Amino acid sequence: MKKSTRVNHPPPVALAADNHPVVPPIYQSVKFEFDTLEETERYLRGERPGFFYSRTSNPTTRQLELLLAELQGREECLVTASGVGAVAQTLLALTQQGDHVLCFVETYNPTRYLVRRLLSRFGVTHTMLSVEDLAGIERALAAHPTRLVWFESPTNPVTKIADIAAITRLAKSAGALVAMDNTFAGLHQHGEYDVDVFVHSLTKYASGAGDVLGGAVIGRGELIRSLRTDFGVLGGTLDPHAAWLIARGLRTYFVRYQAQSASAQRVAEYLASHPAVARVHYPGLASHPQHALARAQMREFGCVVSFDLKGGREASSRFADALRLFAMAASLGSAESLIVTAQMMGGRDLTADQQVASGITEGTIRLSIGLEDVDDLLEDIAQALNA
Ligand SMILES: Cc1ncc(COP(=O)(O)O)c(C=O)c1O
Repeated sequence: MKKSTRVNHPPPVALAADNHPVVPPIYQSVKFEFDTLEETERYLRGERPGFFYSRTSNPTTRQLELLLAELQGREECLVTASGVGAVAQTLLALTQQGDHVLCFVETYNPTRYLVRRLLSRFGVTHTMLSVEDLAGIERALAAHPTRLVWFESPTNPVTKIADIAAITRLAKSAGALVAMDNTFAGLHQHGEYDVDVFVHSLTKYASGAGDVLGGAVIGRGELIRSLRTDFGVLGGTLDPHAAWLIARGLRTYFVRYQAQSASAQRVAEYLASHPAVARVHYPGLASHPQHALARAQMREFGCVVSFDLKGGREASSRFADALRLFAMAASLGSAESLIVTAQMMGGRDLTADQQVASGITEGTIRLSIGLEDVDDLLEDIAQALNA
C-alpha cells in the first residue's frame, strides 16, 4: 500500500471485548460501512440496526439522545444543531396547511418569529395570548380546532410560571398536541406532566460551558420516531463532536443546576431588599406572584433572575456598564454570569398590549447566575447598583 493510500486507510486498532474506555469516545465519522453489500441493503431496507450516515444517525449523537430522553422521563429524543433548530424543525414537522397553533407573547422571540412569519407562509394560522390567560386559552381552543399548543415555563425573561396541568388539560380535551420549551426549567423537571413534546436548547444548562450549540426534542417513542425522517432531510443535525461536548457537560448538570439555583436565590433576595430595585422576578421568592405554583411544579428554580430598576432605561444602562463579573451577552445557564438589558431583548413584533403582557419594561434586566462565588457576584451587583 502506498503511503498516500495508507493515510486514508490507517491501521485499525480494536479494543478487546473486556477492555472499555471509561469516557465514551467520539465517533467523529460522517460515514459508516457494513462488511457486505447484502448487510448494507438490509440496513437500507430497515431490516437491521446500524449506522450509515451521520446526518440521520451517529453512535455519539444517539448515546446523547438516549441519555436526554431518560433525563426528561420519555422514550425518544432527536438532537439538533441548536435549540432554535429543534424549535423550527418541530414546528415544521408537526404542522401542515390549515392547522392552527396556540402560542404566547412570553414565548422566546425566534419561536414567535417562526410561528408568525414562517408557518404563516405555509398556511398555518395562530393565536397569541398571555400564558397566564387560562380563560383565553379555553376560548381560543373552543373557537379554532388547534393542532399544537406551544409554551414555556418559567418564561423569558420575567419568569412567569405557566400552569402546566391546566394548559395540558385544556389542550388535550380540545385534541391539541402540547409542546413545551423546557429550556429554563432544565431536563430534570416537568417530566410528570402530560406534555407530548419537550424542546430544549442544549446550549444552556446541558452543556454548561457556553462553548457549544445544540438542541433536543424529546417525547414518547412513536411521536418522536415519526419526526425522524423530516428532521433528517431538514438537515439541522447535531455534529458528533458537539454531542460529545454536551454529554461531557451533562456529567456535572445536576450539581451545576443546584448550585446556580442556590446562588440565584441569594441574588434575588439581595435585589429584593435593595431600594433602587422596583421589582424582582424569581420563582423562588415568596413575593413571586406564582411562587406556590412554582413550588408545586419545580424542585429548583433555575439561574435566571430578572428585575426592574426604579431608574428605568437610564439606570439599567449604567448598571450594566458598571458590572465587572457579568458579560453583556446572550444565553443563560452556563458557568459564567451574564446580563441582558431590555434594549437587548427584542420583542419589537409585539403590539403595545402584548408588550405589557410580556412583563418587560424599559428597566428590565435579566441576569444569568453562573458558578462564580456568590459573594463576589453580590459585591459586584452592589457596586453596580451604587453606580
Ligand atoms: C427558551 C429558549 N428556547 C430556545 C432557545 C434557542 O436556543 P439556541 O440558542 O441553542 O438556538 C433559547 C436561547 O436563548 C431559549 O432561551
